[in-house]
Amino acid sequence: MLNLALIIGSTRPQRFADVPAQWIAAGAAERTDFALDILDLRDQNLPLFEEPVAPAWTQGVYSNPLAEEWRQKIGKYDGFIITAAEYNHGPTAVLKNALDSATFEWRRKPVAFIGYGGVGGARAIEQLRGVAVELHMAPIKAEVNIGMEPFLGILQQGKTLDDYPYLAASRTTLFDEIAWWGNALKAARTA
Ligand SMILES: Cc1cc2nc3c(=O)[nH]c(=O)nc-3n(C[C@H](O)[C@H](O)[C@H](O)COP(=O)(O)O)c2cc1C
Repeated sequence: MLNLALIIGSTRPQRFADVPAQWIAAGAAERTDFALDILDLRDQNLPLFEEPVAPAWTQGVYSNPLAEEWRQKIGKYDGFIITAAEYNHGPTAVLKNALDSATFEWRRKPVAFIGYGGVGGARAIEQLRGVAVELHMAPIKAEVNIGMEPFLGILQQGKTLDDYPYLAASRTTLFDEIAWWGNALKAARTA
């Protein structure tokens, strides 16, 4: 079984991130081709990066115990889905910090994004893809973009993500693709 993690990439008290996170989890519960755990960055208590040298120089070992715990947790998964809020046209600082807080554990694993905001988080996702490549990950094309209309529909009109069938179709494609890449890369890592 493929073991994936959904990383909730924003932590502010009134965050929207729980809406896409719960919807991804609900969709994943219908799948039999992978299991999905939720890793909420609120619960990780990660320090702002404070390592004396780049972890690539210490065989990926972190001196901070919470960062060390995080990177070992990341090592257990075959791929990742990340909720991507967009702050000032970039990713959240807390998510970038979480990505910096593991090194080898990300490698040769797929990552997919579900973004939201004025343009569906697209600008943040594009930056995150570059970061993922530097981490030796495989950022996949499939993504979910919750743009302005559904974003405001949920916030102001009581709608839910299930009111937008095109988003459900994107979610299915994302699941199909991350499962394909997850299995392919898992087999390649094992070989
Ligand atoms: C500091 C800050 C900067 C933001 N910048 C953008 C932005 O550049 N583009 C955008 O679409 N939304 C932007 N927003 C609005 C966010 O899309 C919206 O607040 C969203 O709910 C943030 O995700 P979160 O609720 O999970 O924290 C910004 C919000 C904050 C708090």
